[in-house]
Amino acid sequence: MQIKNVGVVGCGFMGSGIAQVCAQSGYETVMRDMNSALVERGMNVIKSNLSRDVEKGRITESRKDEILSRLKGTTDLRDFRGCDFVVEAVTEDMRLKKEIFSSLDSICSKHAIIASNTSTLSITEMGSVTKRPGQIVGTHFFYPVPVMKLVEVVKSLSTTEETLNTAKAFGDSLGKTVVVAKDTPGFIVNRLFIPYIIDAIRVYEAGLASREDIDNAIKFGLNYPMGPLTLLDFAGIDTFYYAACTLYEELGEPRFCPPPLLRRMVQAGHLGRKTGKGFYDYTK
Ligand SMILES: NC(=O)c1ccc[n+]([C@@H]2O[C@H](COP(=O)([O-])OP(=O)(O)OC[C@H]3O[C@@H](n4cnc5c(N)ncnc54)[C@H](O)[C@@H]3O)[C@@H](O)[C@H]2O)c1
Repeated sequence: MQIKNVGVVGCGFMGSGIAQVCAQSGYETVMRDMNSALVERGMNVIKSNLSRDVEKGRITESRKDEILSRLKGTTDLRDFRGCDFVVEAVTEDMRLKKEIFSSLDSICSKHAIIASNTSTLSITEMGSVTKRPGQIVGTHFFYPVPVMKLVEVVKSLSTTEETLNTAKAFGDSLGKTVVVAKDTPGFIVNRLFIPYIIDAIRVYEAGLASREDIDNAIKFGLNYPMGPLTLLDFAGIDTFYYAACTLYEELGEPRFCPPPLLRRMVQAGHLGRKTGKGFYDYTK
């Protein structure tokens, strides 16, 4: 299937990044959030990313305008009627995702593929609320989407080979490296990544080292671009927490169990950079 028009649901960290790379890659792109302030916030993130690319000489001003001309923001899901491929990137909550899949199923044309950017939830379960389970697939991008090269394409129990191949070709067309994973909790990356981050929180919680020393130890000892606590603040503590809960619930292994400190931080609204406070303070 030839993809021309792409829809993205959710204009947060991931949705805005996915919409940006789609528009950059030549797709007419519409992105939706719950109200116009949230849509505008996502659009502003994209504009400032592209302006930075212009400043750094990576793209020209006219290329920036051309990319933006392919992007449209909306609060109305009915604007997805003409989309060939839709990526859902709303909050990591199965109830909400199912509601959106059900609405998209009734709005989108018959040939459209609906994908989820979920980090951990079941693609099979999302597909079960639609009349097109064969055309439901996972496309798991990484933050920040314009920079990170990977997309995990996830095949549910019902995803057809044709849908899988279209999703893989879509990922390729965005300049990403595509890996294929089964519909298992955490797919490939989070299955390996979540226990590592949980251990870092446990080390901090037990007072074994300061947050700076934990981050520096990993950054300079293992040559990772960022320490685990900085990374958590960067990617969103709530998002990570929900992901860990899902893996723990589904797999029952203690290594996926969210530590009490993580839970408390979510309860306190200390969600990292997006709320100004996480393991570090960003208010100053
Ligand atoms: N943050 C990461 O590093 C990361 C990486 C890979 C995948 N993911 C996954 O991507 C998804 C989104 O994560 P995020 O970090 O962008 O979260 P986020 O909180 O930054 O953004 C979620 C957005 O969804 C919007 N939303 C909620 N309900 C909606 C609805 N009914 N219609 C339209 N928009 C709605 C919210 O207003 C918000 O703007 C989650 O499933 C998450 O697990 C996140």
